[in-house]
Amino acid sequence: MSKRETWATRIGLVFAAAGNAIGLGNLLRFPSKVALYGGGAFIIPYFISFILLGIPLMILEWIIGRYAGSKGHGSMIGIMGEFFNQSYFARIIGSLGVVIPFLIVCYYIYIESWTLGFAFLSFFQKLPTPTGVSDPKLAMMPFLEFYRNYTKPSFYAIFFLIITLSINWYILNRGVIKGIEFTAKIGIPALLLMGIFLSIVSLSINNWKGLEGLYFIFKPDFSKLFDPQVWVEASGQIFFTLSLGMGAIATYASYVKKNEDVLKTGLYTAGLNELVEIVIGASIAIPAAFAIFGASSIPELAKEGTFRIGFMSMPAILMSLPFGSYLSFIWFFLLFIAALTSSLALTQPLIALFEDEMKFSHAKAVNISMTMVSLGAFLSAFVPGFLDDLDFWAGTLFLIIFGFIEILSFVWLFGVDNFYKELNRNVFLKIPKILVYIFYGISLIFIGILFYFWTVIKLPEYFGQLSWNLIISRTFIVASILLLVLIAIESKRRYFNL
Ligand code: ALA
Repeated sequence: MSKRETWATRIGLVFAAAGNAIGLGNLLRFPSKVALYGGGAFIIPYFISFILLGIPLMILEWIIGRYAGSKGHGSMIGIMGEFFNQSYFARIIGSLGVVIPFLIVCYYIYIESWTLGFAFLSFFQKLPTPTGVSDPKLAMMPFLEFYRNYTKPSFYAIFFLIITLSINWYILNRGVIKGIEFTAKIGIPALLLMGIFLSIVSLSINNWKGLEGLYFIFKPDFSKLFDPQVWVEASGQIFFTLSLGMGAIATYASYVKKNEDVLKTGLYTAGLNELVEIVIGASIAIPAAFAIFGASSIPELAKEGTFRIGFMSMPAILMSLPFGSYLSFIWFFLLFIAALTSSLALTQPLIALFEDEMKFSHAKAVNISMTMVSLGAFLSAFVPGFLDDLDFWAGTLFLIIFGFIEILSFVWLFGVDNFYKELNRNVFLKIPKILVYIFYGISLIFIGILFYFWTVIKLPEYFGQLSWNLIISRTFIVASILLLVLIAIESKRRYFNL
């Protein structure tokens, strides 16, 4: 058995973990959710979800990843198996934790390619210049011309998708240390610098009018606390932004050294992610739109989708400032770096599955994984609605379900005592056992309630609407699940030479 890689340096591990979590969720999804759900009304459920769901699940994924990694398993199929006697049942349940990041990366990487394309077009001043930015509708022109409303991806769109897939392919092929860790060590500091710079630019627009936009986001508003929809959205955002319920954090955790203090790393990951989300993520797009278009435009812009503010309004706003093309380049390049470090993390569970469980060589594991991702990415480009459908199922519902399964299995079924023992191994802080009962009890109930509201509020929106496009996306989802279940079964036979 070839030796598994481990992260080479502590700082590299922390940056890679931060890169895993920090992504488009922080810089695009967070601002639009905040705008859509009423600014300050969103923030309270968001923080409560962070404490009650985000932190416990983040720590859990680091703990189980470290444990299973030391036994040679890095994908959820192997991790679930390791905790439950490698039973077929456990491995099959674990396959959900591989299919989720796979389905997410299929559309995520397509959006990532837009950011690269927009960065390039901004830099070379090829993005069509909007005629005026006072009307948000005009500000969307560059987007429409580039993507034609997704129905007919332009030549540029396909070109940059191929480039983005190749970049991911190349980095993943170089492996955990030379590929992922190296990219994160350069990417995360660059991301922080660009993010802070753009925050200052956005807040200072029109004599610091952008600051009022921050006030809109953080002014607590208790009126919507009893609206379950806001809770469902806020907690969904916590799952997505922290990459929880995806299996991606546990896979990175499986590459730590046996005695790594994963409690510390988990807290760093969550902390850095929140720093970027609520300091940088909140300070760029909304304040800039606020300063230019005014307060009333914010919910209106957000209603038109997650991408509206980031891809349509932002370039228009930035290009109205001095050195606008370069500012627009920095914005899209920032998004690209954030997305790249996440797409690597979302693909790695599949690679780990092929390497650890199927015993494929690294190159073969990467080639098969990236071929699968490329297929999904092209479907995202050519099938209208594919992206949104995958985001609805894999990027939202499946995360809640798998988060529930993780807490139930690794804490309650595995046994609080066993989990507690692993939690306290080589960590800087001894957590009292009572806190395990409290936090993992509350989080389980919390997810159960969310799931109930989710099915009541969200599911009906999606039933009843069926078209050829949705049949394609749902067939793709079901086929991916079946494929990974088969691999979960077949890999057990290979692993144990049955
Ligand atoms: N956590 C990643 C993001 O926020 C997936 O984009």
